[in-house]
Amino acid sequence: MKRWQSCILLFSALLLTACDGDQSMFRPAGSEADKVVFLYWTMVIGFAFVFFLVMGLVLIAFAGPSQWRVWLQSEKQIIGLGLVFPVIVLSGLLVWGYLLLGSSSLANGKPDLKIRVEGAQWWWRVTYLLEDGARVETANEVRIPVGKLIELELVSADVLHSFWVPAWTGKMDMIPGHTNILRFVVDTPGTVKGQCAEYCGGAHAFMSLYGVAIDEQTFESWLEAESAPAVPLSQHPGRQVYLSTGCGACHQVRGQIGPGGSGPDLTHVGSRLSLGAGILPNDTEAFERWMARHPFIKPGNRMPAFGFLSDLERRQLARYLDALE
Ligand code: CUA
Repeated sequence: MKRWQSCILLFSALLLTACDGDQSMFRPAGSEADKVVFLYWTMVIGFAFVFFLVMGLVLIAFAGPSQWRVWLQSEKQIIGLGLVFPVIVLSGLLVWGYLLLGSSSLANGKPDLKIRVEGAQWWWRVTYLLEDGARVETANEVRIPVGKLIELELVSADVLHSFWVPAWTGKMDMIPGHTNILRFVVDTPGTVKGQCAEYCGGAHAFMSLYGVAIDEQTFESWLEAESAPAVPLSQHPGRQVYLSTGCGACHQVRGQIGPGGSGPDLTHVGSRLSLGAGILPNDTEAFERWMARHPFIKPGNRMPAFGFLSDLERRQLARYLDALE
């Protein structure tokens, strides 16, 4: 294989690696995500057609037979191909794209589940708004039942963020002082990844989340467990470290330590899929790493440094947090 062939092959392979995995829009798990993929391919095919047409005309203009070049120079071709054609094609695609994404059968009717997702530098506060008025707060992952109409209330605690779980639906901005509504249905169960899609400061790239779609019965049991207060663990040595270090000033452990409010709720943090908003796995070692090195793992994050903890204290605290399931 020649060198330029290897280069093209390598470059294509690098590009295509973005087309799969749990954060890919090419794996739609519901009707809204299907529409985004359909729109994408229509645009790609349309643009490819226009690109090759224009390149063909450029080729004719430079090296075509003389009578073709004369034909191309006429005023009719210049106005037709240079003005009328792009206006018709671009207006058509704009209106069609707008109608496709704007016309949703999900826009009306009562949602089966309402969740408020608040973007904050650089994590996600996720609050289930239950019909009886109860509020269940968690962070950095959104769990939903499959086949149900989900309504997200998207808000921001500070600057612009954007909620985007590509496999579920298109992205939508989270604007300070404003509530955006995002409705969708997910039909395929599974765990997928999402990402803040609006630059929101230094650690923007580290503002990820997990989306978990499960069957209704599993969801109901999970929500019931999530609503319950934390396991007491009153004799746990890590709990003493938690209390004496003052973690509760920012983080709530429902039913025990609070009031929290400014940081993620830690009531069932041990049962989540990740730490630091999709940055680290969730195990004792990761909790230890986070507490020892979080200003380096996620630069600029709002949590104060806890370098003064001894190795033993850090380990005890990590074990306590991991046990909060
Ligand atoms: Cu939040 Cu980017």
